[in-house]
Amino acid sequence: MASSSTTIKSLTAREVLDSRGQPTIEVDLVLAGGGCGRAAVPSGASTGSHEALELRDTKDPRFGGKGVLKAVANVRGPIAKALKGFDASKQAQLDQRLCELDNTPNKSHLGANAILGVSLAAAKAVAKSRGMPLYRSLGGAPARVLPIPLMNIVNGGAHADNTLDIQEFMIMPIGAKTFSEALRMGAEVFAALKKLLKSQKQTTAVGDEGGFAPNLSSNEEAIKVVLQAIEQAGYTPGRQIMLALDVAGNEWVHNGAYRLFKSAPEKSMRAQELISQYERWVSQYPLVSIEDGLGEDDWIGWQQLTSALGDRVQLVGDDLFVTNTERLRRGIAQRAANAILIKVNQIGTLTETLEAMETAQRAGFGTIISHRSGETEDVTIAHLAVATNAGQIKTGSLSRSERVAKYNELLRIEEQLGFRAVYAGTMWPLRKSQAKKLAKA
Ligand code: PGA
Ligand code: ZN
Repeated sequence: MASSSTTIKSLTAREVLDSRGQPTIEVDLVLAGGGCGRAAVPSGASTGSHEALELRDTKDPRFGGKGVLKAVANVRGPIAKALKGFDASKQAQLDQRLCELDNTPNKSHLGANAILGVSLAAAKAVAKSRGMPLYRSLGGAPARVLPIPLMNIVNGGAHADNTLDIQEFMIMPIGAKTFSEALRMGAEVFAALKKLLKSQKQTTAVGDEGGFAPNLSSNEEAIKVVLQAIEQAGYTPGRQIMLALDVAGNEWVHNGAYRLFKSAPEKSMRAQELISQYERWVSQYPLVSIEDGLGEDDWIGWQQLTSALGDRVQLVGDDLFVTNTERLRRGIAQRAANAILIKVNQIGTLTETLEAMETAQRAGFGTIISHRSGETEDVTIAHLAVATNAGQIKTGSLSRSERVAKYNELLRIEEQLGFRAVYAGTMWPLRKSQAKKLAKA
């Protein structure tokens, strides 16, 4: 193989800590021309069962069985051996090579965490060697849409030890003219919410994604408190700022039905009852996006939900699709959901992530690039959101540096793009045709 500046010279990995203090893998990749890339892999708590496998040292008592030394050894050993001398600029081939080396449908041999670390580190090293920021190296000149942030300011579900069953109560500042203005609006609402909760003698401790985790009397009460905070910050809900929820409904599934697993675990509900509840909320509140309103295998329920609300509301499949093109295709064919949450570690390579996004965008599905509840200081997803003109990003609240790091990186990208930058809020709801037109302009 002829050597070029993007030929892989060396590859190593280490165990580092994520935002929950749990180990995760970080990969360093160096190219012959000197370009180097570093990527740290995120980790979920409310993971879908169809996700690619995160390899952990379950039998080793270190870190309570959560160590990732096997994944580290896989990078340093078989992966490094197979990729030495490989041209990292051929991302699709590199990712294919990794999949072949693993040779399982869910990356359980080498670990999706090991594979993803290498895949992302390669992309970052190539960007470095081209002297370009990652968003530009991946997306070229068309990459210039700054995403609408879905800011998770109240945490519940599996992400907080409080009374709320719904995992994420989010605000979307669509009325801003720029991303930086959207970020300021979000931060102002977050500050107003803190004051409000304090005045109600609620705790202002935060959950895994940096949102407050109060013990409110019901899920609907959380919606009301967020609306109040928006107003107290000087904004009009439904005009400048919209609401979004991640129910993480898979956590509610129990014995073939649903239940409010924290507030009323004894009461069983059918999908139709949840759908009626969402319909009521959509008519009452400026709620424009509902993620995982139902469980990961409730395809019939998802079809009913989509026929009831799909023309008015963004219905996002997270655990339903797990960034998996095959599952997404089924959703498109069966009219289940109309948007997809994109998490790089659900599928395990950059190429497969981009494939899922392309499939979604071609079908007119909305696309939201997302963090995990366990994160690091790595800001790759900020670049990915701009590279793909995704239009939306979900990266937590306005606190905790592993969340804010992504927002800060988007500020830098917006500044760098200058007058070419476009904030997706100005064209909400973002449709693929609009994004395409814009990319050509
Ligand atoms: P997770 O949560 O990272 O814990 O899976 C995020 C989400 O459900 O969107
Ligand atoms: Zn989710």
